[in-house]
Amino acid sequence: GSGGLVDTFGRLGTDLRISLTDKCNLRCTYCMPAEGMDWMPQSSLLTVEEVRRLVKIAVDELGVRELRLTGGEPLVRPDLEEIIAAVRADHPQLPVSITTNAIGLDRRAASLAAAGLDRINVSLDTVDAETYRQMARRDRLAPVLRGIEAAQDAGLRPVKINAVLMRGANDDQAVELLSFCLARGLELRFIEQMPLDGDHGWTREGMVTAGEIREQLSARWRLDPDDVPRDGAPAQRWIVREAGTGALLGRVGIIASVTEPFCTDCTRTRLTAEGRIRTCLFSHEEFDLLGLLRAGHSDAKLAQMWRQATWLKPAAHGMNAPGLGGASYVQPERSMSAIGG
Ligand code: GTP
Ligand code: 5AD
Ligand code: SF4
Repeated sequence: GSGGLVDTFGRLGTDLRISLTDKCNLRCTYCMPAEGMDWMPQSSLLTVEEVRRLVKIAVDELGVRELRLTGGEPLVRPDLEEIIAAVRADHPQLPVSITTNAIGLDRRAASLAAAGLDRINVSLDTVDAETYRQMARRDRLAPVLRGIEAAQDAGLRPVKINAVLMRGANDDQAVELLSFCLARGLELRFIEQMPLDGDHGWTREGMVTAGEIREQLSARWRLDPDDVPRDGAPAQRWIVREAGTGALLGRVGIIASVTEPFCTDCTRTRLTAEGRIRTCLFSHEEFDLLGLLRAGHSDAKLAQMWRQATWLKPAAHGMNAPGLGGASYVQPERSMSAIGG
């Protein structure tokens, strides 16, 4: 067969996300347990050349049009610049981005940009040092803020900020965080917490919903819906205006993965750090593409495997179903850090 990554619901996978490692130097409570995880062995991780070959197949044979590199924490890979440069050499026009916690980015933003990185998304849940220490279980706010500045200085644009609100931790800081981002030209998106944490500690009541976030922000600003079509992008976008004068201050996004799922418009295909295809964050199955590659199979065979795996992509995650935690939703074995956001 030939053609793109189409599933039984007619969705097309054009947006490739590759996790480069499951390791991370933080322990955010909504993602990883304090003690960390059983890390994948080094030898099972995708190498520079393997990433390069799989991206080439995805772009040349499967219609992939955009690449996101994730983790764990992608900056944990000392060869991240090399990976980006290798992909860039094959695909001068491909949009390439990373999702990162920004630790160490102050020293690497320039080299990443030089290697061909286009833009970055940074996880930042609070600008209060003590709250940061509690949520990430590490006292690292200062280097993260330096990393964000370095990214802007290196011309990585836009810099997007991802924030997960957690009840009792930072759920009263939405306004403070958006003020910080508006003042610096950072595109903030609030994300509903999803049940993908290593501790299996997610509860419906603990999750701060998109509705609550809109309410908090509306107490301070005027929010007008942004009419730019979403096109499968997860964030609902709002224009932020000064309440009194209506003066334009910027934009904010809200990713309501749980309460307003966007699965019917999903354009994603994913590879884990071990080179396994995951058609959805919430899949219960993976397909060992890297195993086939290492066994010496051709590009055509790998592309065929990828198409077949995609065909079986589930309709939706089902986590907003009534009786959540019971009926239709079963949390996948892998935590967010092992899947790659
Ligand atoms: P851009 O807007 O293009 O920068 O992409 P993005 O928002 O997908 O990037 P990012 O990696 O920063 O992910 C932001 C958040 O979206 C993640 O924290 C997840 O919570 C959520 N997310 C990412 N991918 C998926 C997905 O496939 N399904 C769902 N339900 N949520 C996702
Ligand atoms: N729910 C929602 N978002 C999460 N992230 C990590 N774990 C979760 C979760 N359980 C976010 C991080 C990062 C992105 C890749 O995923 O904040 O920005
Ligand atoms: Fe796509 Fe699965 Fe994410 Fe839904 S949960 S948007 S189907 S990857």
